[in-house]
Order: sequence, then C-alpha cells, then structure tokens
Amino acid sequence: MKITFYGHACFGVEMNGKNLLFDPFITPNKKAKEIDINNIKADYILISHAHGDHIADVEAITKNTGAQIISNFEIVNWFSEKGIEGHGMNFGGFYSFDFAKVKMCSAIHSSSFPNGDYGGNPGGFIIQGDDSCFYYSGDTALTYDMKLFGEMNDFDFAFLPIGSNFTMGIEEAVKASQFIQCDNIIGMHFDTFPPITIDKQEAKNAFEAKGKNLKLIEIGASINI
Ligand code: NI
Ligand code: MN
Repeated sequence: MKITFYGHACFGVEMNGKNLLFDPFITPNKKAKEIDINNIKADYILISHAHGDHIADVEAITKNTGAQIISNFEIVNWFSEKGIEGHGMNFGGFYSFDFAKVKMCSAIHSSSFPNGDYGGNPGGFIIQGDDSCFYYSGDTALTYDMKLFGEMNDFDFAFLPIGSNFTMGIEEAVKASQFIQCDNIIGMHFDTFPPITIDKQEAKNAFEAKGKNLKLIEIGASINI
C-alpha cells in the first residue's frame, strides 16, 4: 500500500486501485508549498472533522477529481449544499465501499466549521481491507475507547497525532499505540504551527522505548507499507 504525506494531517492512501485522501489542508500550509493540489489523485476524501486545518482544500480537490467525500452526516450535508457528493456516516458499524469497509469511530476533540457552522462530532476512521487494516484517528486526545479499537481490529499501521496542544502529544500517542495494539505508527499534526512543534528524534525514541516504530514521512514523500 502506497502512502503519501501532504503535510499536517493530510495523507493519500492507495487501496484496491482507489485513491483515498484524508483531511486535505495544503494550499494554506506554508510547509506544504511544494505540493500542487492539481496533481493529487482522489476517488474519496475522508474528513475527520470540520476544522479548517482538515477541510481547506476539499472543494478544490473534489472539483479537480470528482472525488466523493466520506465523513459524518453533518459535514457531508454541509458540503452537499455546495454541490459536492458524499457518503454520510456516524459512529457505529462498518459500511462497505468498493475499496474497503469503513467505520467511523469516536475522537475527543471539537468540530465546528471555520464560519461557526455545526460540524457534528469529530471522529476517526477504521479501514478494513481484504488484506490490510489501519486506523486514522483524526485530531483526538488519548481515550480509553482506543483499547476497544485494538481489541476488535488487527491494525497493520495507524495514523496518530503527536504534536500536543490541540491533540495528543508524544507521551499520549505512545500509550494510544499500546491501546490499539499496533506497532507501526505514522505521525501527524506536528510542526505545522508553532504550538505543535516537536523534537522528532525525541518522538522516535519515545516510541522505540516501548517497542514501537514511529514513521515521520517527509512532506511530498511516499512510503510503501
Ligand atoms: Ni481539529
Ligand atoms: Mn487540527
């Protein structure tokens, strides 16, 4: 599976011939200025919550690609008024898409749109494919719910925030990786803004000390998992 980092909490994931894009925030992100959103492929855009640093480029990329959005009911309704098609969900069970089964799961955060509109509850995604399973937590604090996600799923890897202040920091993310019983963590939501600047080596060491592997992908780079 190919994973590309577009900065902040935005990743492209190729799965079963489909291109998934998570939480696009690229054109306002100075750290991602080398990324041209016109070159991003997307069949589906998965949106964890309504904050600007997760939805900034949804409209432009759906116009370019015709991608459908997958998010909570309120966010999908909000975008449908702009003519963007999507599939609304809420917390509960899986829905089968043509690339994998997707479940929306809880996150401890908030979810208002930049203009103040109600964005439903913030969430994360559990993606269960034929031969791979991963977790994209979205912005969240550490929560005991993650223990349940780990009991019910066999995650190959997970995207977790590590920047602190708005989300989990390194210490909480290490504990989260234990709760979800996953050894391969891809870090997100760090270094974009001054309050979430981290020491990358310290972060890697903290995970390694618990037998976990933290991957920090360069913006614009891809890895294969
Ligand atoms: Ni947020
Ligand atoms: Mn955020």
